[in-house]
Amino acid sequence: MRAAVWHGRRDVRVESVPDPTIQHPDDAIIRVTSSGLCGSDLHLYEVMAPFMTPGDVLGHEPMGIVEAVGTAITNLQVGDRVVVPFNIACGHCYMCEVGLQSQCETTQVHEHDSGAALFGYTKLYGQVPGAQAELLRVPHADYGPIKVPAGPSDDRFLFLSDVLPTAWQGVEYAAVPEGGSLVVLGLGPIGEMACRIALHRGIEQVIGIDLVPERLGRSRSRGVEVLNLEDFDKQSDLVGAVRSLTNGRGPDAVIDAVGMEAHGSPAAKAAHSMTAIMPNSLAEKLMKKAGVDRLAALQSAIELVRRGGTISVLGLYGGMTDPMPLMTLFDKQIQIRMGQANVRRWVDDILPLLVDDDPLGVESFATHHLPLANAPDAYEMFQKKSDGAIKVVFNP
Ligand SMILES: NC(=O)c1ccc[n+]([C@@H]2O[C@H](COP(=O)([O-])OP(=O)(O)OC[C@H]3O[C@@H](n4cnc5c(N)ncnc54)[C@H](O)[C@@H]3O)[C@@H](O)[C@H]2O)c1
Ligand SMILES: [Zn+2]
Ligand SMILES: [Zn+2]
Repeated sequence: MRAAVWHGRRDVRVESVPDPTIQHPDDAIIRVTSSGLCGSDLHLYEVMAPFMTPGDVLGHEPMGIVEAVGTAITNLQVGDRVVVPFNIACGHCYMCEVGLQSQCETTQVHEHDSGAALFGYTKLYGQVPGAQAELLRVPHADYGPIKVPAGPSDDRFLFLSDVLPTAWQGVEYAAVPEGGSLVVLGLGPIGEMACRIALHRGIEQVIGIDLVPERLGRSRSRGVEVLNLEDFDKQSDLVGAVRSLTNGRGPDAVIDAVGMEAHGSPAAKAAHSMTAIMPNSLAEKLMKKAGVDRLAALQSAIELVRRGGTISVLGLYGGMTDPMPLMTLFDKQIQIRMGQANVRRWVDDILPLLVDDDPLGVESFATHHLPLANAPDAYEMFQKKSDGAIKVVFNP
């Protein structure tokens, strides 16, 4: 089969790799019809290179048609249409039972002290072959895949694999009180969907912040108040502008949908660049022992949120000793919640919003549909945010 394969920093190639096969009785093989490209893939494209191995198949946002099932599978049949969550979970351990599927105790990657295994996501998360491919082996298919009806286009359901539950969890963890306000930092696919969900769920004031004009424009067109980071010389000016929109106090909650590659952290950018030129074994140690994240967005969140407010971190961070302003966090009495989305936990809440009308606008959410063969260019385009790329979907 053909697949998008990682070969090095900014080096993704589409190649022939062996077809996956059933290896366990609870496996299924999916013929992938759509597969998203995610901001999380961009971290692998460059900064997380020390944790990648040339030959790794990328991708974790698939849907498709069941092609084969193992002998233990009774919930799926060949020909079923399914969306596959990006985290691999068993459905019956303690963590799965309490709705923390991204911490599944059956699939945790003990070797690296990591949570549940993920498709296409570094050795830290199990080095499971990913979903930007024609075929995907799905472990624990007795639990993960979400059956969806035939008829509507793939884009109706595809974002259940990651974007929708991630954004949903972000809004849930933000815990905005009735009549309250929310700032969303970063209006990529995740932040923008978080804004849509927040407005849909009746959060009164939603303010989005980014620096890419098309992204700001798209959120504005859906009723989000937007601020362009580039209009503020200093962080304090941004904080002032947000306070003046939120009763002088700051928002009840801030979602960080930016993560480790935030714009505006020059020193940490140098650390990222350094890991790029070091041998992998050293860079891996550096990333595990040092603060390497570009913390600009998280620091903004801490400054922006009102005293006693909540920060909900969706953006991915990778360093181990990142300096955190503990004095401010303590003094402002801030609560922080974070983590990979527990995809299965939110599916029943979200699915009804996808079947009849389309209140979240998922059908027109993707800006680009491309054949898998275009993956090398698509990664570059998405990283550079060129050609208005906000969400890219591959159709293998
Ligand atoms: N928690 C999870 O389960 C989960 C799931 C999916 C993605 N993610 C993470 O969410 C983050 C966003 O993903 P995405 O697909 O939307 O990616 P993206 O890279 O397209 O979006 C990030 C956005 O942040 C903006 N930005 C950069 N610096 C900023 C700053 N200082 N202030 C405000 N905005 C800034 C960028 O212009 C961009 O639009 C990534 O870190 C990704 O890894 C987490
Ligand atoms: Zn993703
Ligand atoms: Zn489990």
